[in-house]
Amino acid sequence: MLLRFATAGSVDDGKSTLIGRLLYDRNLLLDDQLEALQRVGPLDLSLVTDGLRAEREQKITIDVAYRYFESGKRKFILADTPGHEQYTRNMITGASTAELVIVLVDARKGLTSQTRRHALLCALLGVPQVVLAVNKMDAVHYQESIFDDLCQQFLEFCSHLQIRNLISIPMSALRGDNVVDRSAAMPWYQGPTLMQHLQQVRVSGGLNVVDFRFAVQCVIRPHQDFRGLAGRVCSGRIRPGQAVTLHPSGSQTQVQSILGPDGRLQQAEAGDCVVITLAHEVEASRGTMLSRQANQPQLGTDLDVNLCWLGAPPLRLNTAYWLLHTTRRVRCQVEQVNYRIDVDSLHQQPATQLTLNEIGRVHLRTSEPIAFDPYSTNRATGAFVLVDVATHQSVAAGIIRGRATPTVNPRQVYYQAGSVTQAERQQRLGHQACVIWLTGLSASGKSTLAKALERTLFDLGCSTFYLDGDNLRHGLNRDLGFSAADRQENIRRVAEVAQLAYQHGQIVLCSFISPFAQERAMARQLIPDGHFFEIYLNCSLEECARRDPKGLYARALEGSISEFTGVSSPYEPPQNPELALPTDTLSPAEACQQVLNILRERQILPP
Ligand code: ADX
Repeated sequence: MLLRFATAGSVDDGKSTLIGRLLYDRNLLLDDQLEALQRVGPLDLSLVTDGLRAEREQKITIDVAYRYFESGKRKFILADTPGHEQYTRNMITGASTAELVIVLVDARKGLTSQTRRHALLCALLGVPQVVLAVNKMDAVHYQESIFDDLCQQFLEFCSHLQIRNLISIPMSALRGDNVVDRSAAMPWYQGPTLMQHLQQVRVSGGLNVVDFRFAVQCVIRPHQDFRGLAGRVCSGRIRPGQAVTLHPSGSQTQVQSILGPDGRLQQAEAGDCVVITLAHEVEASRGTMLSRQANQPQLGTDLDVNLCWLGAPPLRLNTAYWLLHTTRRVRCQVEQVNYRIDVDSLHQQPATQLTLNEIGRVHLRTSEPIAFDPYSTNRATGAFVLVDVATHQSVAAGIIRGRATPTVNPRQVYYQAGSVTQAERQQRLGHQACVIWLTGLSASGKSTLAKALERTLFDLGCSTFYLDGDNLRHGLNRDLGFSAADRQENIRRVAEVAQLAYQHGQIVLCSFISPFAQERAMARQLIPDGHFFEIYLNCSLEECARRDPKGLYARALEGSISEFTGVSSPYEPPQNPELALPTDTLSPAEACQQVLNILRERQILPP
């Protein structure tokens, strides 16, 4: 049986030496590794892993190296994580798939906040087996009382956590005490050595074998007659002929065949990478999840989660992040931080943000429904990572506890500006207030349409308020550029101003590229239903680039403007706009007429 394990602790605690010792005492080092070690002088086991680590770090991208070894009847996979930097991030990466985690402490230093954080993370990550390795016992003269005190404190701390199996072992990795061979210096310790424990400990495999979940990595379509879904079985098992549901669409069909590297399979199970063909041509793409019809994951946008914050910039509320869940990527935002956990006392503290290495419980909302299981029943479909949309850094590791009850969004409470009511304003002005949000590529005709609308509405006696990207970026938003984060902030401010003008009874005209669906949704949320008009100026990129009134496309295409929408920065077209105008072909006058029509239809303007 295979045991996946990981170590948690820093270089100072002797992590590298411990791993080196495990391999050395079991004669698991390769000859060239041994030679290299002997060449540098007296045996320093920490170099076994550090040498490889240095190599690895040059390639920068790999955080965790997996070492495979065998000893006795068992095979081992050790997730070896660099301990000296960003401890928590690496520890989580290693521990999230581990059956056992060795938490290392230095006998001289005792328990530290870091040790407690690691124990807490083991509990949150549901690591089935935890070993407290009390290292450097030689430096405290192998005193039993020191070991006992440390174990007592750790046990007391862990009694507040859900840690299923815990064992403490006194050792000295440097001298080889109780790592592989039993120590003669600590006759008072009767338990197993670390290696004995690793060989004997009961392992269940760690995978959920009950609930079939398959995450589509890509759709393979080499020719018209074949369409297969390539991906990994996250959990459970599946056979040809069985009925499946696709998520989030809910489409139902059957598995026609399962293909492995050597041809057709009668079954695929957790961990297998296969291609599945379906009986019907149902919509599927990367991120689609398959389950059995009778055993489906939960589906939702509001999630109750534990987050461990790993980013240098703190968590921001109501800010877009990417959520990476199985093979799916959706936008999300944190609605509320319920509490932060003090890692020393385990107390829940009120909080509005999380900073580096802090752990808390939050309410997260995704922009589209995702199919998930609580982490407690499925480690594969209950875990996710948050990524900063601007820097693409992973900023948090998360585990899903379950669905969160959608709370009343404070933004949806429309307060009254001043003492004059909306009805009074409406009566005086002769029309209702609304926000007309024009979105589209640069040069798609937003400002032209906005100006035509402003003129027509003014001539009809309406009160209008006009906000334009080019204009606001000279004043209110002059500190902002065109990174995703800056655009988000740009739209946030615009949306707030638009809301204020709306409250003052105005017909608010907003002309912004506003490339992200999430920000447009946020602007919409500030305005009561039926009073927000998202108008998509759907003009092809070719036509916009041909028009190029400001010469920006030419400059963007030659590379002298970065992050230019449509060229080097994405534009997410609206899915359900109130109006989509093909401004490739439509004249500004015709476009203006269509907007007026809809305003009359929806009774913003009198007939
Ligand atoms: S938004 O993306 O944040 O909504 P906004 O509408 O305020 O953009 O501003 C867009 C205007 O800024 C464009 O019409 C163009 O004149 C100018 N601009 C300058 N650099 C860029 C860029 N990299 N991407 C898009 N627009 C740019």
